[in-house]
Amino acid sequence: SKRIIAYKNRLIIRLRSVLHDESSVFRSKYDNPYNVNYKGLQKSINIPPHQLLCRLKESVPRINTITGNESAFKTTLIKKLVPHTPLFEENEHYNNCAIVSNAGALNGSNLGNFIDQHDLVLRFNHAPTQGFEKDVGSKTTIRILNSQVVSKKEFKFLKSKLYSNIKLLAWDPCNYTSTLDKWRDKPDFDIFTPYIKHRMAKPNTNFHILDPRVLWTLWDFLQSHTPVRIRRNPPSSGFLGLSLLLPHCRKVHMFEYIPSVRLTPRCHYFDNEVDTSCTFGVWHPLAAEKLITLALNEENEYVTFETGYVSIPGYKYLSC
Ligand code: C5P
Repeated sequence: SKRIIAYKNRLIIRLRSVLHDESSVFRSKYDNPYNVNYKGLQKSINIPPHQLLCRLKESVPRINTITGNESAFKTTLIKKLVPHTPLFEENEHYNNCAIVSNAGALNGSNLGNFIDQHDLVLRFNHAPTQGFEKDVGSKTTIRILNSQVVSKKEFKFLKSKLYSNIKLLAWDPCNYTSTLDKWRDKPDFDIFTPYIKHRMAKPNTNFHILDPRVLWTLWDFLQSHTPVRIRRNPPSSGFLGLSLLLPHCRKVHMFEYIPSVRLTPRCHYFDNEVDTSCTFGVWHPLAAEKLITLALNEENEYVTFETGYVSIPGYKYLSC
């Protein structure tokens, strides 16, 4: 309908304007906390969605985790505690996968039943399902956790039931050209102590730490497919989640990552904080992520902007 097309056009204009603001405003060398030193080329994004997806697959075929065999970790407790089972087996495949963003726009979506019908459901951080089942469902297969959620007391990482008996992937950024040794000695937030404690307390939980160098491979992909310079900070966990699942799902549905007509200034569906930068980005290169995700989307306009999800085909049946 006309209303949906008009909304879509306004949204794209807004995402592009955030992108342009960032490229001009944050250019001082002091605004480069991760010492990003990008030397890559600018590639065209005026290519068919499946070609763009092939490029993402080529750049980031899988999301690596710390195995403990890296020289930085082989003499640490981490080495002994990394589960023998990988986060995903090479041949672990799901049919339909759901990525549930934490966006406020999920409120009133009524998407819970549909989300629960997926073979795998990915959630982020401390996002609750209890009390929000109607809109976000109740099934959780995997959580991606940032290093603040695992290390800050307020999140009760070791006590909360949210973090048991599912797959867990925790992440913390390293510098653009950092070695793992440097990152191990100086993470943004201490991810290692809570990891060790959690592994000892809950050995049956399939819990891994992201190899942080992957974040910059993803960032390079985003920058090389964006016509202006993007924020020199790691991608959001939303885009990390997409890259994590594409090798293992026939189809990935991402819920309210691209905001639907329910767009709200509220940050999260589970609290009342008002902050538009959660949706449009300040710290993460979120506008660039979302414009690229829209370019990968196979869903029609009604589903994307009225129902509230995008659909991206997994790598297994992609011919490049
Ligand atoms: O806020 P939080 O980081 O916990 O949210 C998890 C992910 O959900 C973000 O990394 C982002 O990709 C997505 N998100 C969003 N819009 C919001 C809130 C979250 O796209 N308003």
